[in-house]
Amino acid sequence: MKWLKVPVGPETDQPYLKKVKVDGKAVCIICHDGKLYATSAWCPHAGADLSYGFISKDGNLVCPVHRFCYNLENGRGCEGQGDYLENYPVKIKDNEVYIGITGFWERVMQGFK
Ligand code: FES
Repeated sequence: MKWLKVPVGPETDQPYLKKVKVDGKAVCIICHDGKLYATSAWCPHAGADLSYGFISKDGNLVCPVHRFCYNLENGRGCEGQGDYLENYPVKIKDNEVYIGITGFWERVMQGFK
């Protein structure tokens, strides 16, 4: 896994959703309840931009188009959807925010362990 710096600050006092480009990927950075999350910016259902979505009362990321929802911790789609949103680990180091990107072959090899 490689850690890549994202262009957001480490502050978590105000909630937000923001789309950024990291290593050629569109990533949605979410600040919710004092914590930062990172997911793919594109909804797995039909490709909507999730940075225009919102966080539901139960803490799920809700797509702005058809209202599918996703768990912020693990990317799992809400009950009955049967889909997943790609999410990335987040860490703060030296007052900078980083997300962990796992390469395709690295993920394939993890499947054999
Ligand atoms: S595009 Fe996101 S729920 Fe359909």
